[in-house]
Amino acid sequence: MSAERRPSADTDAQEQIPETGIPLKKLFIKTYGCQMNVYDSQRMTDALTADGYELTDSADGADLVILNTCHIREKAAEKIYSELGRLKPLAEAKKRAGGKMTVGVAGCVAQAEGGEILRRQPMVDLVVGPQSYHRLPQMARDAASGAPAVETDFPLEDKFDHLPRERRVTGPTSFLTVQEGCDKFCAFCVVPYTRGAETSRPVAQVIEEAERLAAQGVVEISLLGQNVNAYHGVDPDGRETGLGALLRRLSRIDGVKRLRYTTSHPNDMDDELIAAHADIAEVMPYLHLPVQSGSDQVLQAMNRRHTAEAYVRLIEKIRTARPDIALSGDFIVGHPGETEEDFQQTLALVREVGYSQAYSFKYSPRPGTPAADREQVAEDEKTDRLARLQELLNAQQMAFQEACIGRTLKVLLEKPGRKPNQLVGRSPYLQAVHVEVDPSLSGTIVDVAIEAAGPNSLAGRLVETAT
Ligand code: SAH
Ligand code: SF4
Ligand code: F3S
Repeated sequence: MSAERRPSADTDAQEQIPETGIPLKKLFIKTYGCQMNVYDSQRMTDALTADGYELTDSADGADLVILNTCHIREKAAEKIYSELGRLKPLAEAKKRAGGKMTVGVAGCVAQAEGGEILRRQPMVDLVVGPQSYHRLPQMARDAASGAPAVETDFPLEDKFDHLPRERRVTGPTSFLTVQEGCDKFCAFCVVPYTRGAETSRPVAQVIEEAERLAAQGVVEISLLGQNVNAYHGVDPDGRETGLGALLRRLSRIDGVKRLRYTTSHPNDMDDELIAAHADIAEVMPYLHLPVQSGSDQVLQAMNRRHTAEAYVRLIEKIRTARPDIALSGDFIVGHPGETEEDFQQTLALVREVGYSQAYSFKYSPRPGTPAADREQVAEDEKTDRLARLQELLNAQQMAFQEACIGRTLKVLLEKPGRKPNQLVGRSPYLQAVHVEVDPSLSGTIVDVAIEAAGPNSLAGRLVETAT
């Protein structure tokens, strides 16, 4: 592989594995879906860079291209096949130049469809499910020498024990997956099938990873899990630890100034976690707590196992603990069985709760899930309900944004903005904030007086007397 001829453009820039003189192979990863896939792509990159690859920002000329896929809705899954079609001419060009572009499909489509992907698109060389990423370097070697490789088992060994411990850090914020999989089996959802049973990483493993991140300058850590607040990792004494206690432990790490977590299920929002919002300064006042629907009848059909009223009461409790908390959520419209009256109850719940921001989707039938076989709501009905829901959610978002004008917010400056001397950061409520400052302040938390608000970002000026 290393001896292939390359297009002249990247020959000069080619770096080498120290002391061996072997050129680094080029790796391109495209990530779809949720933040857990973003984290997984970083870990795949870590594993492959330890094996002679360097990350590149284009598939053109790459030796290994990985699509890290999402299966949550039909459109997400279908995107992969059109992307593979677009890769074909690049793979052929690479072949004409005497090389080989190895093409891999990872993530939830890989887990759901397995070897079927190779039959549908023979240009694919390897298919790897989310629990097997530690095996990727070996699989890539096998595939590059012409043997298609498929790994979609849930292996007995823990991938985290086999992935490199050192992570490449790219800024002051980082994701950290603490929990994977789901046992809830909501009637619409593929996650329990693509990510498997719910598991939690041991406390010591999480702390070690967080400490390494902090030592590299990470200031904000977002804990991830498909059901992150179901976290129950064992501590070194063998005791189960909930997410609230884990946050408390992480907040004591030197350098960690902000903690977030996503995504949570209402039924796992225990008192210890709610208390963490009240009394751990590092835990940010933002919570993504999907409810999906405001109708008890639909919640039951979805197998969510709580009522709309229980959710609203839970929100009240959380707001009592942390009055300024910004709430986010997910909604599905047109789930099988949803009537106009049910949908009206969703609108009523949204009005009662008041979200700072939320995601909403048309129900998409997923093969193998219970709701897919039920009588479906008409497409135009779904379109109409989604538009009405989004109008309300957008208005709430705008109201929340505008209410920030005149306030001074603590902003973690993360990266350059579009204008010179402008940085973009995040408020405690996860809003993007643009501010003109000395770029050397990147990675620090500063006070910003908010002067303007758009639907998706705020703008303000640095308050000199930052505390
Ligand atoms: N674990 C999270 C959700 C993960 S999936 C939770 O329980 O809240 C992210 C979101 O995608 C879900 O909250 C849901 O709103 C949406 N979603 C999942 N399956 C879907 C489907 N079949 N059609 C439309 N939206 C779906
Ligand atoms: Fe999917 Fe979330 Fe339900 Fe699990 S709890 S099945 S991830 S929607
Ligand atoms: Fe998609 Fe898998 Fe995440 S289906 S939303 S990438 S868990």
